[in-house]
Order: sequence, then structure tokens, then C-alpha cells
Amino acid sequence: MTHQLQLCLLFFIFTSLTHAKSVIEPCNTSDSCPSLLSYLLPYDSKLSEIAYRFQVNVSDILAANSIDPVAVPSLTNQILPARSLVKVPISCPCVDGIRRSVSTAYTVQAADTVNSISDGFGGLVSGEQVRSFNGINATNPLTSGESLAILLPCTCFNNSNDGVAAVYLSYVVRRGESLGGIGQTFGTTVAELEAVNGLGQPGVDPGDILAVPIPACSSANLNWYNESLIVPNGSYALTAANCIKCTCGPTDLK
Ligand SMILES: *[C@@H]1O[C@H](CO)[C@@H](O)[C@H](O)[C@H]1NC(C)=O
Ligand SMILES: *[C@@H]1O[C@H](CO)[C@@H](O)[C@H](O)[C@H]1NC(C)=O
Ligand SMILES: *[C@@H]1O[C@H](CO)[C@@H](O)[C@H](O)[C@H]1NC(C)=O
Ligand SMILES: *[C@@H]1O[C@H](CO)[C@@H](O)[C@H](O)[C@H]1NC(C)=O
Ligand SMILES: *[C@@H]1O[C@H](CO)[C@@H](O)[C@H](O)[C@H]1NC(C)=O
Ligand SMILES: *[C@@H]1O[C@H](CO)[C@@H](O)[C@H](O)[C@H]1NC(C)=O
Repeated sequence: MTHQLQLCLLFFIFTSLTHAKSVIEPCNTSDSCPSLLSYLLPYDSKLSEIAYRFQVNVSDILAANSIDPVAVPSLTNQILPARSLVKVPISCPCVDGIRRSVSTAYTVQAADTVNSISDGFGGLVSGEQVRSFNGINATNPLTSGESLAILLPCTCFNNSNDGVAAVYLSYVVRRGESLGGIGQTFGTTVAELEAVNGLGQPGVDPGDILAVPIPACSSANLNWYNESLIVPNGSYALTAANCIKCTCGPTDLK
């Protein structure tokens, strides 16, 4: 093997380790769409803490996960165990020509590193992204109490997938996971995940972020023609007064 080739291989291995893949959706409009984050709890967390971290309402988290607020009183302070998977609804805008969310702020704690911040967000943002987006370096280190902008991955793809209404969920691949297994979890196929994410080969690596299409109910499915609705399967929509407006389940999707 020539030196050049060795270097080339090393470079490839290095970059593939440090640069997790994630799909980039170019955009040029000012509209936002509903999207979901798949958040793997890094530690036991109250729903109120999750809501605070992502700056969304607890009721919206309940809705995205189809948790009946009436069935479980005082849910806000309920503790969910570490490793639970919680869907967090976020609005997906177009920022500098790319779909991504930048409106979540994080206040740096005393012992934080960029990597501990990344872990706190379940890998949805990388340590490197925290560093570069906030201009953190040796002369501008993390300072306790400072507020950081957290980049969160999201995609819209016109809220459709092959002509069917869909909401896209950003999913962080875990060690040992395959496209097939992830597809099974979310009711989609390897081919669909490859197509949506533009994957040349079916391999995914831990830390990669996939856009997973979740079929959704539209106004037409729900016979709700007086406003435009898009409600992902396995969730419900709320009225302005936080009442359940309509639910989307397998029987509504047709
Ligand atoms: C805006 O973006 C859409 C989707 O990426 C693309 O199809 C369209 O051509 C773009 N329009 C302009 C004016 O760049
Ligand atoms: C949270 O709910 C309040 C009142 O229901 C509403 O005014 C606010 O916009 C909501 N915030 C988000 C991020 O949805
Ligand atoms: C560190 O980042 C700041 C802005 O955040 C920049 O002004 C400065 O030049 C950077 N310093 C180095 C050594 O890169
Ligand atoms: C987006 O979806 C709407 C309706 O769902 C459709 O009319 C429109 O052509 C789509 N636009 C693109 C760029 O796919
Ligand atoms: C919209 O339509 C739904 C279902 O047909 C109905 O329940 C709701 O009251 C209507 N809302 C308004 C503001 O007219
Ligand atoms: C919709 O979600 C239910 C669980 O809430 C699941 O059993 C079903 O397979 C999903 N349907 C599709 C088409 O993804």
C-alpha cells in the first residue's frame, strides 16, 4: 500500500468517525413545518424538564406521544426512566438556506463540556456543532451561565412522502442499530429510509441522524376542512385551549 493510499484511508476513517451523517434539506422559503425529534433520555427526567430543555409545552409533548393527560394526573412531574424514547415536537424553519431549528437556547452549567451538552440533548446536536455554532474556542471557552444556541436537526420535505402526508422525525442512530430495525420501530422500510436520506449504501453508524417519515393525517383524512391540519400517526392535535381536537391512529390514515 502506498503512503498516499494509507493517508487517504486514514483520512476517510477519521472523517467518517468524526462527521456523523445527516440529511440536509435546502430551502428558500420563510415557512416552517411541524416536525419531531426522537429524544432518548440520557438520564431520568421529568416531563417538565424535557419541555424546559427543548422549550416546548408539556401538553405538546403529551400530544406528540399520544399520552392521555386525563388518565395520568400531575404528569408534569412524572419521572420517565433513562433510555425512554420521547417524541418532541418542534417547528422546523428555514435558516440560512437549510432546514434546521436554532431557537432552542441552553444555559451552560458549571461542569459542562460541549460533549456533555451533546449528551444532554441525546446526541441530537454534536459537541462539534455546539462548539462551531457558538464560536467556542480556546480564547472563547464555555462559561457557566452563558446562553448557547442549540442547532436541532429537522426536515419538512413538503410534509409528504411519495404523495402521502408525512411528518419527519429526526432519529439518532444508536450503537448496534440497523436501518431495518429502525424502520420496524417506526413502520417504514429500509428502501424508504435510504431514499429519504439519500443513502448510497444501507449502512448507518452510531450518531448518524436519520429523517424518518411518519405517516400523518391531513385535513382530508380527518374530515376537518376548515383549517389545514397535519397530525402524525400516534399523536393528537390540541386546540388553543389545550383540549384534544383530533387524534390520528392507524384507522384514520386511509
Ligand atoms: C426553492 O427550493 C425548492 C425546494 O428546494 C426548489 O424546488 C425551488 O426551485 C427553489 N426556488 C428557487 C427560486 O430557488
Ligand atoms: C405554550 O402554551 C402557551 C399557552 O397555551 C402558548 O401561548 C405558547 O405559545 C406555547 N408555547 C409553545 C412553544 O408552543
Ligand atoms: C475564537 O472565537 C472568537 C469568536 O467566537 C473569534 O473572534 C476568535 O478569533 C477565535 N480565536 C481563535 C484563536 O480562533
Ligand atoms: C407540496 O405539497 C402540496 C400539497 O400537498 C403540492 O400541491 C405541492 O405541489 C408540493 N410541492 C412540492 C414542491 O412538492
Ligand atoms: C372545524 O371543523 C371541525 C370538524 O368538522 C369542527 O368540529 C370545528 O368546530 C370546526 N371549527 C371551526 C372554527 O369552525
Ligand atoms: C401507526 O401507529 C400505530 C401505533 O400507534 C402503529 O401500530 C401503526 O403501524 C402505525 N401505522 C403506520 C402506517 O405507520
